Amino acid sequence: MTQSIKTAGQKYKPFLAEFDARGRTAPIWLMRQAGRYLPEYRELRGKSPSFMDFCFNPKAAAEATLQPIRRFGFDAAILFSDILVIPEIMGQPVTFETGEGPRMQPLETPADLSRLSAAPAVAKLAPVFETIERVRAALPDETTLIGFCGAPWTVATYMIAGRGTPDQRPSRLFAYRWETEFRKLIDLLTRASIEYLSAQITSGVEAVQIFDSWVGVLPEAEFEKWSVQPVLEISREIRKRHPDVKIIVFPRAVGSLAGRFSSEDSIDAIGIDTSADLGWSANVLQAGKVVQGNLDPLVLLTGGRALEEQVANILQKLGNKRHIFNLGHGILPETPVEHVEKLLKLVRQWERPS
Ligand code: CP3
Repeated sequence: MTQSIKTAGQKYKPFLAEFDARGRTAPIWLMRQAGRYLPEYRELRGKSPSFMDFCFNPKAAAEATLQPIRRFGFDAAILFSDILVIPEIMGQPVTFETGEGPRMQPLETPADLSRLSAAPAVAKLAPVFETIERVRAALPDETTLIGFCGAPWTVATYMIAGRGTPDQRPSRLFAYRWETEFRKLIDLLTRASIEYLSAQITSGVEAVQIFDSWVGVLPEAEFEKWSVQPVLEISREIRKRHPDVKIIVFPRAVGSLAGRFSSEDSIDAIGIDTSADLGWSANVLQAGKVVQGNLDPLVLLTGGRALEEQVANILQKLGNKRHIFNLGHGILPETPVEHVEKLLKLVRQWERPS
């Protein structure tokens, strides 16, 4: 099933070139590029009894990772898995109801934290590491493999609420009411994330992305405590253990607070969401870091002139400095495949001013 799509001898990696010097073209990959908008993904997914089974089936997960590379030739592949495999191995099983998102037994009070294992055994994620080895062996040489984890805050929001919520109210309340206990949960997730990313790297990923998707609701001091500090603890330790690996952080919808990461040595790239100020991102973030983003997933769904205009605007504002083209959040399942093809054409035909 995991048929090789290797091409001979091409070592130049547009995605990685972006970090060390300006690449020849703007490299591109898309968050959730493996997923339901692809007919071949829906077919493969239909063969697994559940989404978690799919994530823990190395053959199927490797195939899902490779599908968008075969079809579109993105500059990077992202491991097919989910951020919620971490609670799963901590003793909080996760299920996905069709069309409804993740469900788990919520952590309602500090007493519920005792249900979690004190030392999460990352070795239980062996199928994920096998997926990485399979993908690496089949991936074209010029394609970078990205691993990932959820940032501790974002994973904690699901663990505490037991599901996704519009405003992360349960975890915000938990953190205000029981700060000491909440910190224990964040510390546990931080340690598990370090071991998890480290094992992904040992298995073959060349870059990692830390997804802090639900941090945009936090006041500045809470953002510092629950996002910046744990994320930096992870990135610094990963940098120490694996100095050659590129580290991307995606603190979604935090506006200028993303600047907090702009002078941090252990962060190589900052992902920006759809609402980011592009002028500010170019002046402040790109002064020190690669910037990744920020096409509106809804404009990719729409296509046509709206798509052309937004792509041109992003390339004009960010494309002159170090930039990885991406969406501002994950691709939507209703997105026509032809619009993704069009996007790749638009980005690849754009010429960087020399
Ligand atoms: O292609 C890729 O980006 C790689 C795989 C990937 C998935 N999830 C696959 C997936 C990655 C990197 C993620 C990250 C993830 N998972 C995040 C952070 C990024 C973000 O979107 O904010 C979060 C918050 C999750 C948790 C999660 N997983 C939710 C809330 C859902 C349900 C919502 C939905 O889109 O259905 C998932 C399920 C999920 N993860 C799917 C996929 C392809 C869809 C389920 C299916 O195919 O049956």
